[in-house]
Amino acid sequence: MKNPDHVRGIISSIKKDGVNKLQVISDFDMTLSRFGWNGRRCPTSHNILDNSQVITEEGKKQLKDLLHYYYPIEIDPNRTLEEKCPLMVEWWTRAHDLLSQQKILKGDIAQIVKESEVMLRDGFNEFFDQLHKNNVPLFIFSAGVGDILEEIIRQANVFHPNINVVSNYMDFDDDGILRGFKRPLIHTYNKNNTVLNNTEYFQQLSTKTSIILLGDSMGDLTMSDGVTNVKNILKIGFLNDKVEEHRGKYLESYDIVLERDETLDVVNGILRYTF
Ligand code: C5P
Ligand code: MG
Repeated sequence: MKNPDHVRGIISSIKKDGVNKLQVISDFDMTLSRFGWNGRRCPTSHNILDNSQVITEEGKKQLKDLLHYYYPIEIDPNRTLEEKCPLMVEWWTRAHDLLSQQKILKGDIAQIVKESEVMLRDGFNEFFDQLHKNNVPLFIFSAGVGDILEEIIRQANVFHPNINVVSNYMDFDDDGILRGFKRPLIHTYNKNNTVLNNTEYFQQLSTKTSIILLGDSMGDLTMSDGVTNVKNILKIGFLNDKVEEHRGKYLESYDIVLERDETLDVVNGILRYTF
């Protein structure tokens, strides 16, 4: 924490205003899901598809090449948003085009997720269950693949009715074969108002003036921009990769920075205290 007193102040204020005023806005990949396990990287929702058996060897190679080219750009602290945005659109568009050529079946999604190495962060059960029990809305705003992340949460038995997801959803034809992705395209750096055409959701939530925001990327900081009435906001950032290089910027932008922490313990502790 750069400013522990400030953090203490926000948490007290969230507690004082009560659970009825609280909403949680969270990123999915590498925030609710694990970054690594046993020294190995865990997959993002895109990687789950990229690595699955339904993709040809040639397709896998092309998707991996894209990842190796664009991921360093995504996390490069020395490039501006203006530089990154068009390149992210390029990455997502090229990856989605490749995936759409692979004849992926809607009916295969559950199996693809089951066979993957994805893991939710330790403490996920308490996190999802606490929010559900206390009727706290959880808004998951993801530049990943909506169908995949929903299936991950479903298979973990924590897809409760308080969850609302905005993400990139697959578009299947009448035979259930993937033919593209629905618009608008959401990438790391447009997770803001511009892609939330259903601001109705936020209007419904305008009474929820306390926000806990969870993210792992600098792009996640704008996820709450659509909320009109913000009284208290606590931003918690998971710093997973290139920790030394990114620490300064993360500490400037997030109220709490969790370095290489594969658990939801801090978030759960704060929730337990507020409830
Ligand atoms: O849920 P979240 O917004 O974190 O999802 C975006 C993540 O997916 C990014 O961190 C990015 O590195 C990753 N990604 C990927 N393959 C792609 C596009 C994005 O692994 N083709
Ligand atoms: Mg993420």
